[in-house]
Amino acid sequence: MSDATIDPGDFRRVLGHYPTGVTLITSHDDDGPVGAVMGSFGSVSLDPPLVMFMPTRASSSWARISATGSFCANVLGSDDVDLCVAFFKKDPDCWDRMPWHRSALGSPVFDHALAWIDCTVEEVFEAGDHLIVLGRVQHLDSTVEDGASPLVFFRGGYGRFED
Ligand SMILES: Cc1cc2nc3c(=O)[nH]c(=O)nc-3n(C[C@H](O)[C@H](O)[C@H](O)COP(=O)(O)O)c2cc1C
Repeated sequence: MSDATIDPGDFRRVLGHYPTGVTLITSHDDDGPVGAVMGSFGSVSLDPPLVMFMPTRASSSWARISATGSFCANVLGSDDVDLCVAFFKKDPDCWDRMPWHRSALGSPVFDHALAWIDCTVEEVFEAGDHLIVLGRVQHLDSTVEDGASPLVFFRGGYGRFED
């Protein structure tokens, strides 16, 4: 069957059955902090240490992040739904909602992120209407105690991981 027969609504609905975690990809330029909610984050390679995320080509945040040459992936916890929605809606106060500091590369790190991965942009690949951004990991840490639950996105809604 040709891909011309794939309905965009079906594509979103069916692919929405694949659960993801939720990251806030951040950077910082002369205009201040920038951040975008991305579910398409993942680890790629241990040697060298590479991760990736996939922004839409139309992303205004990516245009700014790309110009800095570095980003930090902040892994959100299940208590961070309001924070996630605030960033998605671009609420003017979203950076005031939680404590953050700048990484060694200058990107915002949330003090209560489950984990953070500080990267330089290694390579960018074109992929249809999105881009695949490869990041080379420069620093990383996980900062919360046992029992913390990640924020999970599934079929258009938010949930938590239960073991
Ligand atoms: C849970 C969640 C996951 C998302 N994941 C992605 C993603 O992987 N790639 C993407 O381009 N946009 C994703 N978005 C939408 C982006 O946050 C953003 O709205 C979009 O990329 C437009 O970019 P801009 O705000 O930088 O212009 C996601 C939104 C939500 C709420």
